[in-house]
Amino acid sequence: MNSVVDFSHVQHEPPAVPAAERAHITVRGLHKAFGGVPVYSDFNLDLPKGRVTCVFGPNGCGKSTLINMIAGLIPHDAGDILFDGKTLQQTTIGYVFQNYREALFPWMRAIDNIRYPLKLKGMSEADCDARVQELIESFDVRFDLNRYPYEFSGGQQQLISIMRALAPHPEVLFLDEPFSALDYEMTLFIREKLQEIFQATGVTMIVVSHDLEEAVYLANHILLLTKRPTRVADNVFFDAARPRDLRTLSSDAFVRTKARCLDIFQNEVRK
Ligand SMILES: Nc1ncnc2c1ncn2[C@@H]1O[C@H](COP(=O)(O)OP(=O)(O)O)[C@@H](O)[C@H]1O
Ligand SMILES: [Mg+2]
Repeated sequence: MNSVVDFSHVQHEPPAVPAAERAHITVRGLHKAFGGVPVYSDFNLDLPKGRVTCVFGPNGCGKSTLINMIAGLIPHDAGDILFDGKTLQQTTIGYVFQNYREALFPWMRAIDNIRYPLKLKGMSEADCDARVQELIESFDVRFDLNRYPYEFSGGQQQLISIMRALAPHPEVLFLDEPFSALDYEMTLFIREKLQEIFQATGVTMIVVSHDLEEAVYLANHILLLTKRPTRVADNVFFDAARPRDLRTLSSDAFVRTKARCLDIFQNEVRK
């Protein structure tokens, strides 16, 4: 892939400092309840900067709720969430939804979906055009973005969602189970695209995944959550070199890391 333009100054390989020392997102004293039932109670978290964090945990433990609170899509009851010490309002983020069918604006052409966050920021038409062109080149898009979302395959729609999320140069990119509605071939394709984006931009990525192999493959940091009321079960780090490929999946370090995560997960679900 051509690099996503304008990010050449960003370090491609994660620096060799423990991730916990370079927190990008800090969550302190977070509380969240639904109908009086707490999901998060005095919850604290540090998410590393310029790394891929994959969030893994039992079904219904609150993975989506957590990233949605951090991304400001749903309110939290109490607590502080900061990005490099800044508030969400002072931070540019991107979000890729689980269900691409409901994520794109169906009445807008793909290109206008991608331009949408740029127009919201008040960017001029010419600058919007330039940014969209950059994205088209860096993603090597061969299909016609003047068509409407329903005219694209699922994978293409998810790619358009990712382009829209990246358009405003986010500091943090959130993805909630981005592969769960895709077939296997598209999953592999989008997974590699995400890895390329990460290598090209160094953007902090927070990916919710229910597939442990996929989570470890993509992650520098695997955040393992417990059953409700939700706590951090453990943090596991995986700093295999990128680009990762099929050989990564059979490497000793990968197999060991995945086994360790599975062990932590199984201990949790058996409780
Ligand atoms: N809007 C809501 N109203 C009531 N309960 C909710 C709502 N959203 C999520 N929950 C509950 O909170 C828990 C965590 O949900 P969620 O974050 O979607 O889990 P996960 O993404 O880990 O599968 C679940 O028990 C779910 O039923
Ligand atoms: Mg979820």
